Amino acid sequence: MSTRQGLADELARARQRTLRLVDFDDDELRRQYDPLMSPLVWDLAHIGQQEELWLLRGGNPEAPGLLDPAVEGLYDAFVHNRASRVDLPLMSPAQAHTYLRTVRDRALDSLDGLPDEDPGFSFALVVSHENQHDETMLQALNLRSGTPLLGAGEALPGGRRDVAGTSVPIPGGPFVLGVDAADEPSSLDNERPAHVVDVPGFRIGTVPVTNAEWQQFVDDGGYQRPQWWSARGWEHRRQAGLSAPQFWNTGELAGTRTRFGHVEAVPADEPVQHVGFFEAQAYAAWAGARLPTEIEWEKACAWDPDLGCRRRYPWGSAPPTDERANLGGDALRPAPVGAYPGGASAYGAEQMLGDVWEWTTSPLRPWPGFTPMVYERYSAPFFDGDYRVLRGGSWAVSADILRPSFRNWDHPIRRQIFSGVRLAWDL
Ligand SMILES: [Fe+2]
Repeated sequence: MSTRQGLADELARARQRTLRLVDFDDDELRRQYDPLMSPLVWDLAHIGQQEELWLLRGGNPEAPGLLDPAVEGLYDAFVHNRASRVDLPLMSPAQAHTYLRTVRDRALDSLDGLPDEDPGFSFALVVSHENQHDETMLQALNLRSGTPLLGAGEALPGGRRDVAGTSVPIPGGPFVLGVDAADEPSSLDNERPAHVVDVPGFRIGTVPVTNAEWQQFVDDGGYQRPQWWSARGWEHRRQAGLSAPQFWNTGELAGTRTRFGHVEAVPADEPVQHVGFFEAQAYAAWAGARLPTEIEWEKACAWDPDLGCRRRYPWGSAPPTDERANLGGDALRPAPVGAYPGGASAYGAEQMLGDVWEWTTSPLRPWPGFTPMVYERYSAPFFDGDYRVLRGGSWAVSADILRPSFRNWDHPIRRQIFSGVRLAWDL
């Protein structure tokens, strides 16, 4: 159970991350790097607006707030789509910073008055929300053209090349899917409730698919042959002119990629990044495999077959560290495969948390017994949409908000996200 001090620390860590990602001049913060993304100053003020709503106004948008309602409305993600936000009369960066500080001071005062053993779920929700926007801002910065604003990223451990392409068996049988609030008080509504699911046996990749493996797919004409693609996937590939993962360069720069503005050789042993669901599916078909379902993925990540119970993390109950997973955003890239033998799951699958989000075949659906949380529109509006679930978090996700049960989702064509692939096979 998170105590008040734990939550205050998590809020502070999230804010530190946010401030590092907006430490640029005003013109930079107002720029739209890509129609898929908001200007950074929108994310900044929206972080404060959501924190005010959930922590200072009990989630009631009608309750009086710090902003003029017309200004507050600019930060409603359901009203203004990302492409249009650059044209809104947004708060200036200085105004946004002042607003965030005011909200945070009051939120911490309110936290002080709550019971230490149960400060309430809303604080965990706000920690998750801010950290999720930090990842979104990293996606925006990665799409930015021009002289790099960020360095190349912090050092990462070396990998073990020989684990690429290997797999581990997951015997059939029941396991507990999802979590309950009693065990994971910070879990979000779509991860709950815990329930038993029987899963037929399968194999899953020990590690995600690497750039070197993906290059073989490219070299073998993978992007030219409809036989590997779904009808919808092929149609999209053709229309969008896809021929490689996003950010891989062509022509004179072939063999390189652009990452946060840095042009560098594509690292052979790093998990492939910036592929969409349709591409992931085509790659899997070419490789004689398939993508896992999200239920298979969660079993491979969290189940301990000897003890017959879930592990809090793939490796056990100890919190994530730099020896177990690449999380937190400072690396600005995935670690090479095999970099975290200490992070292996009970079945021997590695790098299940961190590095790249992994596409699954599963559309986003509620678990049986789903109950919306205080932020009712977090999951439910997306249950019947054209989304596929991604699992495991990326290098850009904070360790404070990631669990094996965490579910992310996106449109199957999206690839500006830090998305990759782990293969699966029927037994
Ligand atoms: Fe948001």
